[in-house]
Amino acid sequence: MSIAELQPADPVPSPYRGAEEVAPLRPVAAELTVVIPTLNERDNVPLLVARLNRALAGTAWEAIFVDDDSPDGTADAVRALARQQANIRCIQRIGRRGLASACIEGILASASPYIAVMDGDLQHDEALLPAMLATAKGQRLDLVVASRHVGSGGIGDWQKSRAAISGFATRLAHRVIKADLSDPMSGFFLVERSAFDRAVRAMSGQGFKILLDLFASSPQPLAFAELPLQFRRRLHGQSKLDSMVAWEYLMLLLEKLTGSAVPARFLLFSLIGGIGLAVHLSVLWAGVAGLGAAFPLAQAVATLCAMTGNFLLNNLFTYRDRRRRGRRLVSGLASFYAVCGAGAALNVAIASHLAGAHCAWWLAGLAGAAVSAVWNYAMSSSFTWSARPSAA
Ligand code: GDD
Ligand code: MN
Repeated sequence: MSIAELQPADPVPSPYRGAEEVAPLRPVAAELTVVIPTLNERDNVPLLVARLNRALAGTAWEAIFVDDDSPDGTADAVRALARQQANIRCIQRIGRRGLASACIEGILASASPYIAVMDGDLQHDEALLPAMLATAKGQRLDLVVASRHVGSGGIGDWQKSRAAISGFATRLAHRVIKADLSDPMSGFFLVERSAFDRAVRAMSGQGFKILLDLFASSPQPLAFAELPLQFRRRLHGQSKLDSMVAWEYLMLLLEKLTGSAVPARFLLFSLIGGIGLAVHLSVLWAGVAGLGAAFPLAQAVATLCAMTGNFLLNNLFTYRDRRRRGRRLVSGLASFYAVCGAGAALNVAIASHLAGAHCAWWLAGLAGAAVSAVWNYAMSSSFTWSARPSAA
């Protein structure tokens, strides 16, 4: 037997050859992967898979659910279905969170030429998927977006406040991306693999807005089309949109605005440092000029005030994702004082020395504060708000 005879005539049977083709014995590689991020969507999973089965009956597709270890057992629900259906998979991420990063991981775990990203809560109309795929293929597009703001699209029965916030966020987004996209906040889109591959290394992966991230990170303008989406209402479970999501969105915009040269966290820390400086100098001024206090004492009190204020503001904004609350807030403050203690001592010593050496009081205070600011940033990022998940 020659080697040629051992080769199968058509190693990759295609489902697009028409009905006369014999059904392939092996599973066919998917042309479309639907990536579905989930967090506590257990009850929605079987309904969504049933709907996908119906909507994508004529397509070689697979679904990858990316679940962030939902306490309600979403991942188990996906795996139960995956045992019956080979085109369903589950990536269960432990110790990590985030809608955009979940989507990126799901896309990277697939091999298909087209990937759709959609919510797992049935708010996105799966019946649009075949048209999205056909549009992307037919027009050779990088991306097809299901938009709530074109044609017959809409936001359903959203509250006025949510619609207003969404509108504001959309206007902000247009400052970051150049594309004339009617709904940059949409979480329902289909992307061609090579377009994604070109952008993925520059993507931030932070927060909720992966589409915006994709547009802002693509090295070249993306060719896209928009199809109208009527956003459905949620039947089971709850929306995860909260102040944290809004914060992450602003961090993403900040990062993209600076071309990712400066981490958004550092920008915020510096901004808050500036506020701390103002607090410091005000307290120092009130102490020295107002109360006639001894300089070292006034400087020490000013340092303490600035430090406490900075801790609270950074906890609220800069490190919102690692925010300390309750007892951990107190222990965090204690750790903040402790790690910065040496810096504060240095601060008072330097400032007092300079003031004693006939340096202007404000210059002395400024120098001391600058030294402690560097300390605060270096120490707090690794100790007070350490990225390691800690039980403390
Ligand atoms: N893996 C993972 N990790 N999934 C998450 C996370 C997370 O941290 N947070 C949310 N999800 C999942 C949800 O389970 C759901 O399937 C999907 O992401 C969207 O989350 P929702 O909480 O339902 O979002 P929404 O309905 O408020 O927001 C929708 O509207 C936005 C437009 O304003 C979503 O469609 C967004 O994608 C869309 O951008
Ligand atoms: Mn939703």
